[in-house]
Amino acid sequence: MIAEGMNVPLEKVYGVATFYAQFALSPKGEYDISVCLGTACYVKGAGDVFDKLKEMLGIDADECTADGKYSLSACRCIGACGLAPVLTVNSDVYGNLTADDVPGILEKYGK
Ligand code: FES
Repeated sequence: MIAEGMNVPLEKVYGVATFYAQFALSPKGEYDISVCLGTACYVKGAGDVFDKLKEMLGIDADECTADGKYSLSACRCIGACGLAPVLTVNSDVYGNLTADDVPGILEKYGK
């Protein structure tokens, strides 16, 4: 659609949309949750944190809940390795996490 409207090749639009972190191919929720799966976070259990979020929100990576409230994605190192594992909810940062911390964090955002 955009490619047709702008009369540029689809691959050019896709390249720009996937290059810049500010753009996304899926809708973002009111609360955009991003779990760092960089090396330091991953070896300290970020995968378990990510799985717990998927289970509690009922969505997979790069998806948004049906009510538009939460979206979930994985990211690479955000430069807070000393706090690994780390996640962000919009601009809020949470560190030194375990999967058991997930319910308390979601509760702060109305879950
Ligand atoms: S690897 Fe997660 S903050 Fe650096």
